[in-house]
Amino acid sequence: MLKSSVTLFIAAFISVSSVQSLQYAKNGGCTGYDQPPGDKMYYDHFNVIKPYQDKEQVYFDQKYRDLMSLRVDQYVNMTLINAPPDFKCDLGDDTPCNWVFTGSSSRALTFWKLYQNTKKTNPAKSKYYLDLARQYIEGSLKDISDKYDDFISFINGNPGVYAIASVIYDSLGDSTKAQQFIDKVDVVFSKPMTNKIDYDDGIPGYFYTLDFLETYYDRPLFSRDNVMRYASHLFDYGYNHKLENGTLIFPEPFPDTRTSLGFGRGAAGMLFRLMQVPEVLQNETMVKHIKLTIDYMIARQRPDGQVADIQPGMEERVQWCHGAPSATPVFALAYKIFGDQKYLLAADLAANYTFNYGVLLKGMGLCHGTSSNIYMILYLYSITKDPKYKYFAIEMHKFALDTPTLTDPEKMMSWDCVGQYSSFIDTAASAIATYSDMLTYIDGQEENMWMIGWGKISHKTENQHAHTFLE
Ligand SMILES: *[C@@H]1O[C@H](CO)[C@@H](O)[C@H](O)[C@H]1NC(C)=O
Ligand SMILES: *[C@@H]1O[C@H](CO)[C@@H](O)[C@H](O)[C@H]1NC(C)=O
Ligand SMILES: *[C@@H]1O[C@H](CO)[C@@H](O)[C@H](O)[C@H]1NC(C)=O
Ligand SMILES: *[C@@H]1O[C@H](CO)[C@@H](O)[C@H](O)[C@H]1NC(C)=O
Repeated sequence: MLKSSVTLFIAAFISVSSVQSLQYAKNGGCTGYDQPPGDKMYYDHFNVIKPYQDKEQVYFDQKYRDLMSLRVDQYVNMTLINAPPDFKCDLGDDTPCNWVFTGSSSRALTFWKLYQNTKKTNPAKSKYYLDLARQYIEGSLKDISDKYDDFISFINGNPGVYAIASVIYDSLGDSTKAQQFIDKVDVVFSKPMTNKIDYDDGIPGYFYTLDFLETYYDRPLFSRDNVMRYASHLFDYGYNHKLENGTLIFPEPFPDTRTSLGFGRGAAGMLFRLMQVPEVLQNETMVKHIKLTIDYMIARQRPDGQVADIQPGMEERVQWCHGAPSATPVFALAYKIFGDQKYLLAADLAANYTFNYGVLLKGMGLCHGTSSNIYMILYLYSITKDPKYKYFAIEMHKFALDTPTLTDPEKMMSWDCVGQYSSFIDTAASAIATYSDMLTYIDGQEENMWMIGWGKISHKTENQHAHTFLE
């Protein structure tokens, strides 16, 4: 198996023309804009997908499973050819190439996921994937620089790279190395308190990193005092900027003063991670203001379900980092924790909107595309078990598979050139992990799915189930 991958790399170097058709992003696929022009950002599927009928039998047809499997293999080949382990991104500045957002460690994580997902069904292929994960993480680790140590997140920052390295080396049986990378994640706590408070760069993303590791290892690894120290800092930041009625507001101190309700840069990401710190849920003041802030998001929800961001220009976005898809997991988790029906109602409306307008022209990316929109709906499904959401997810995937500009390797469009071949941004690279999860878990094990860069949260409020998410 390993041999064939080596052949593939060599083939890519000596006979580029033979793989030309797979190099979609170099053939005009990458548009150079982060957003299609005009106001319409979605594929209109109203006349294609039948409305969900109550008690309808929901299943994922074999025909589409076969097509999805073929696409996984094709996209893996595209990744190996276009972005091999030593691939250097070209971002036009000195942003590191090895973070999850910009690429190389996200590919290591994808191959590690494929290893996990195929362990039982195809051990030989699984070993091949684990070896690829090793090659990619070695490439990432070579590029580690401490120049950007103030970035402490999973997506943007070295902690994400270290966490991925830890689980890959543990899977390879090297527990000494695995522990060394856990220690490198822990080091953040011994540094001066960060001013980065968003999910993409700061504390909430660091919390996900800790959770990712503790969920995989299924044991406490980090000091609770330290976690609470960081949680308090994050909460106090929102509290110090709060509205008169107690709504927490998180303006960004850096790089500008955007205030957002979205996941990547705004309140959704902070609330979602704060609600998973058990000590936070013990603090009455914190709970009160967290609830007020979720109420604020509900108050801003339009009758059609969109939770319009307060960040100017982002009001209509329907993607993981903005709008209804951002709000869906926050409302869903609030419902799970606090049990109030108003959260379920808000989550249902947001998921409905995400279904209606969430198959995006931008592609299958996770950060800004269709794949994460589907994951957010499946998250609500895993909490409610309402088959409607599973229906939404399957039908969105079927529609995408039938749409060449979204999924055909020769025709698919990539709107996010910054993260070319990043499994968090890029259309094909993101679809690998998303499709693998669909194929492995859609028949009743949806709670085992986890999204690259966002994760399936471990819900420490009922930690005994945590390990099933990442095992
Ligand atoms: C992927 O590449 C391998 C190695 O060259 C090849 O055997 C396989 O057929 C390719 N798969 C697809 C779907 O193109
Ligand atoms: C709860 O959190 C608030 C805000 O950070 C803090 O001022 C307060 O001391 C905490 N209460 C307890 C009992 O820890
Ligand atoms: C708090 O104030 C803001 C701004 O006036 C408002 O939009 C929001 O709905 C209020 N929150 C609640 C829970 O009423
Ligand atoms: C969900 O969206 C459909 C359009 O597909 C709309 O007819 C329906 O009213 C929406 N449901 C809710 C609860 O808003």
